[in-house]
Amino acid sequence: MTNADFEKIVETSDEWIRTRTGIKERRFAEDDVAVSDLAVEACKNAIKSSGLKNEDIDLLVCGTVTPDYRLPSAACIIQEKMDLPNAVAFDIVSACTGFINGLSVAASFIETGQYKNVLVVGAEKLTSIMNFTDRNTCVLFGDGAGAAVLTGSDDGSGILSTFLRSNGKYRELLWIPDGGTAKPIDEGYTFDGSDKVVMNGADVFKIAVKQMCDSAVRVVKDAGIDSEQIGLIIPHQANIRIIEAIAKRLKVSMDKVFVNIEKYGNTSAASIPIALDEAYEQGRIKDGDYILMVAFGGGLIWGSALMRW
Ligand SMILES: CC(C)(COP(=O)(O)OP(=O)(O)OC[C@H]1O[C@@H](n2cnc3c(N)ncnc32)[C@H](O)[C@@H]1OP(=O)(O)O)[C@@H](O)C(=O)NCCC(=O)NCCS
Repeated sequence: MTNADFEKIVETSDEWIRTRTGIKERRFAEDDVAVSDLAVEACKNAIKSSGLKNEDIDLLVCGTVTPDYRLPSAACIIQEKMDLPNAVAFDIVSACTGFINGLSVAASFIETGQYKNVLVVGAEKLTSIMNFTDRNTCVLFGDGAGAAVLTGSDDGSGILSTFLRSNGKYRELLWIPDGGTAKPIDEGYTFDGSDKVVMNGADVFKIAVKQMCDSAVRVVKDAGIDSEQIGLIIPHQANIRIIEAIAKRLKVSMDKVFVNIEKYGNTSAASIPIALDEAYEQGRIKDGDYILMVAFGGGLIWGSALMRW
């Protein structure tokens, strides 16, 4: 779905979308594709490149705000479709920070010895919660999935530090007001867009820049390294201007920042794992590199992870 395609459905322009966000196109899944279908493709690829077998996975964590059903979790559906006989599976609902929170959960379980091999997937079908008459939001998002397998190591590689925070007082800046138990959709309900994503973009932007920058600085400090040692920054792909602000604050040049927002838009929990995979495929990550990941999303919630590849 290109910016030109959006010009046909809302009052917008390719120029506005490109200059304000950095987005040129985004991917939309077909109607009959559920979020678990997107996740399964990513999970299969991740397990294949890990060299492990399906039976080796003890835990599957799925970051998503667009599960197939309200009950059960998307993770349980993915577990069944993937055939992971020895795993427990559950979702993490933290919007765009779903993958970072998933990595943190995975690393903690591995460190305590409770689980050995953890599959973390971020998957979203955001088209299912987008209001296609609201130009403030509909041009920003896309569908997608990305996954990674984490396993214990004693060679100094892995997740060195994570930093997670949230503040629910900002919940109405980026939310779906209606359709939950607080405001159910029952008989006589008038559909006015409140059952889809509603966002105050300007306020979210300001808080995102501050908290993503602070989170990035914090996780680098906690890992005991200097920002010059960072090999690659993989930020959540929400807005190119937010990404540039993080690079500036860390005094890291943009060629050390991975950007693919122009192709996918904001895919929420899927954004960082998709970028991580592309960066690896493009040879931009080498053994021993320090990788900084940082995200921000509806909650509001934000966080970062520093990984040694
Ligand atoms: C949404 C966002 C791109 C808007 O950029 P902005 O520079 O803040 O623009 P503003 O919100 O100030 O809007 C400026 C004008 O553009 C208009 N506008 C909004 N969307 C538009 C679109 N798709 N096409 C054309 N005009 C648009 C607004 O209506 C407003 O018009 P007005 O001044 O006549 O009221 C930006 O705020 C943003 O990226 N916010 C963070 C969003 C985000 O990352 N969310 C997810 C977090 S995970």
